[in-house]
Amino acid sequence: MSVRITRNASLKSFNTFGVQASAATLVELFDEGSLDEAIEACGPNGPELVLGGGSNLLFTRSLEGSVLRIATRGYQAIEHAGPDVLVEAAAGEPWHEFVMWTLARGWSGLENLALIPGLVGASPIQNIGAYGVELKEQFVSLSAINLRSGQRRDFDLNDCKLGYRSSLFKQPHFKDWMILKVRLRLSRTAQLRLGYGDIRAELDKQAIREPDSRDVAEAVIRIRSRKLPSPNVLGNAGSFFKNPVIPATEALKLIELHAGMPQFAAPPDDQGTAMVKLSAAWLIERCGWKGARRGDAGVFDQHSLVLVNHGKATGADLMSLAKEIQDSVADRYGIWIEPEPKIV
Ligand code: FAD
Ligand code: EPU
Repeated sequence: MSVRITRNASLKSFNTFGVQASAATLVELFDEGSLDEAIEACGPNGPELVLGGGSNLLFTRSLEGSVLRIATRGYQAIEHAGPDVLVEAAAGEPWHEFVMWTLARGWSGLENLALIPGLVGASPIQNIGAYGVELKEQFVSLSAINLRSGQRRDFDLNDCKLGYRSSLFKQPHFKDWMILKVRLRLSRTAQLRLGYGDIRAELDKQAIREPDSRDVAEAVIRIRSRKLPSPNVLGNAGSFFKNPVIPATEALKLIELHAGMPQFAAPPDDQGTAMVKLSAAWLIERCGWKGARRGDAGVFDQHSLVLVNHGKATGADLMSLAKEIQDSVADRYGIWIEPEPKIV
């Protein structure tokens, strides 16, 4: 079967928050060759939502239109050039499995991004990042289709405008593009990035003095498993808020008022203004939210940036908790923190 159509489908098992929502029509695409059939099955208005692994979205309502879930699989090396390898993966491939395949072949580049949930096709949407590395460092190009016009085209690194938790595809004008394939450049010689404090400490703990890419991935996996709740155990979508990025001059004033506030250098903005990234987790924790609960909607007790569903929380419950947190951070620090997941 290359396309599966379900009417009145529950989306509970298709979002890692585990909240209840349904779609009038769920169209699942397993084979890119049947793309036209899948688009047609979505009806004349096209899909209301493209769904990957559902690990970065929050449903606050049921969908009266169609949801197109991309489940195409496959990856391969398409070019070997000197020390580099160009790899291509289908949008429906689970990200972590793909990462582990590249590492098993001895290719370096994705080790710091191990264990991020979700699928390959969503990875450029917010330019996934972790442990000092962002997708954009390995990204080459992607193939996509415009679900309204049927136009197909490739987007290269420059086109995609990948930034911190952002890309071209988050702009309203590009919302109709569905990503089909992603191409990344990896290296046959290890180019390890161990700058993010936790990684070195974890390698030291294991007494690994000359790590390879797989050692780094294993260290990242161990750190992540300690810090973040597994969606199989406790519903969540990872960080619920983005870390605020503010002008360095404002950050300086804040640190004078609030000693110990963590601040990290960030790339300058489009006008060349020096920018600083703050820790949303720290701001939220200082407002007293760590481990807090409003019914089944809660803040994870080991990481204040992660909102969790203790059982029967709805999207509305989680949004109302999120709003309370935003208001209290704004009152205390004058900073408005923005959600990271797509709110549907
Ligand atoms: P979905 O949640 O299905 O979709 C997210 C958005 O992308 C939606 O707007 C959707 O419409 C769109 N989309 C999905 N696929 C496509 C496609 N093929 N074409 C066009 N649009 C598409 N993220 C990080 O960056 N770093 C982390 O360290 C990290 N850690 C996490 C830890 C946990 C425990 C969890 C639950 C999440 C974490 N995330 C992290 C967030 C999430 O895993 C990533 O954003 C991931 O890339 C989302 O993939 P997905 O397939 O689940 O996307
Ligand atoms: N901190 C607290 N309280 C907490 C947790 C953290 O005060 O409960 C402070 C500490 O000062 C710590 C700092 O926050 O040093 C940073 O914490 P962490 O290393 O966990 O990173 P983060 O900024 O909270 C970001 C990403 C994660 C990514 C990690 C690791 C965002 C929004 N989140 O979290 O991505 O895995 O770095 O690189 O940028 C995601 O996007 O879903 C996600 C999980």
